[in-house]
Amino acid sequence: MKPAQPTTAPILEVRNARKRFKTPDGGEVLALDDVSITVQPNEFLTLLGPSGCGKTTLLRAIAGFEDLDAGEIFIAGENINGQPAHKRPVNTVFQRYALFPHLSVARNVAYSLEVARASKAETRRRVTEMLELVGLTGFADRHIHQLSGGQQQRVALARALISQPKILLLDEPLSALDRALRSKMQRELKMLQSEIGISFVFVTHDQEEALAMSDRIAVLGHGRVQQFGPSTQLYDQPDNVFTARFLGESNLLPASVVGRDSHGKTRFRLFDGQELALPLVASSPTSPGGVSADSLPGSQVLLFTRPEKVSLRSLGADCLQFHGRVQQTLFVGAHYKVLLDIGAPDSFNAIVAADQAADISLEPGAALTFWVPHKGVRPLVSDVGAT
Ligand SMILES: Nc1ncnc2c1ncn2[C@@H]1O[C@H](COP(=O)(O)OP(=O)(O)O)[C@@H](O)[C@H]1O
Ligand SMILES: [Mg+2]
Repeated sequence: MKPAQPTTAPILEVRNARKRFKTPDGGEVLALDDVSITVQPNEFLTLLGPSGCGKTTLLRAIAGFEDLDAGEIFIAGENINGQPAHKRPVNTVFQRYALFPHLSVARNVAYSLEVARASKAETRRRVTEMLELVGLTGFADRHIHQLSGGQQQRVALARALISQPKILLLDEPLSALDRALRSKMQRELKMLQSEIGISFVFVTHDQEEALAMSDRIAVLGHGRVQQFGPSTQLYDQPDNVFTARFLGESNLLPASVVGRDSHGKTRFRLFDGQELALPLVASSPTSPGGVSADSLPGSQVLLFTRPEKVSLRSLGADCLQFHGRVQQTLFVGAHYKVLLDIGAPDSFNAIVAADQAADISLEPGAALTFWVPHKGVRPLVSDVGAT
């Protein structure tokens, strides 16, 4: 399943956003450093990154709670810089929901309509509709403290959706929920989004959540967009070390560029002396972190491969071969997660299917030879904006 690259005009565009904060000790933090993203109509877009990378700052700037030092924000083609928060066609579900604990569920949900002085009948009708949408029919008169975490989450959603925003911003809305409830709410949110057909900009620091929910993901790190694209593309083709490390498990093997070969491929030599040639395109402005065909001989790179690309059988000529020693093996049901010493600076993570492991030893200390197809390998350079 591969979502098509967007072709329609974006509903939201953030162009070259920059935001600097002063810290109490007199220093400065560059929370957003030239951040650009687009969001398509009806898209589920996720901002993914570690704590402190600028996710909340970006959402607050889109919502109108934070002024940018530089950059522009467009909604449906209109520049909304300077437009006050309450005039913007967006609404936010905050990390801690920010519900009014002393008001009933219905009054919480009705809040923005009351501020806008909608009629009582209209408000009642819309509140009923919203409570039904989020599965809280019958809870109108409850108080917030009489609700579970998941129910409070739904109230926050209903309250944000009642004003019919074009874009819903969600700042780590599931982080307070336990694992089982979280996974249930992930499905509900995804279903809700396709049902109401508006764009979601969803913030999380949880990579599995991002992969499960998103049409596209923008990986943020050091206040910059490290990579932006469909989730499958980011997982299979990370452009830089930051994205590879943050999204899923990865192996990064030291190598250097040898040069171009007669077929126009770029040759690399690994830490253990093996060589391989990979087809690379010329550098592109959309992947500033990537290694390109322009890379100079002698450049140091890391060759990236996922643990599941490992095979315990030779795959023919177009693969790398490694000899390793098992350090640790974890049986996790469908497969084994094996940690191997292959003489590289870091241990190698391999995933071995249970049926492949039937007649070989994965005990610590056992010698193991394995293969990785060239097409499962990708050269990377360091993060965008790393210091
Ligand atoms: N109002 C503020 N004053 C000073 N520093 C701030 C302020 N808001 C955020 N920051 C800093 O900006 C950086 C990005 O913060 P934030 O956007 O909240 O990150 P995230 O949501 O990804 O965890 C952090 O280093 C944070 O400490
Ligand atoms: Mg945050």
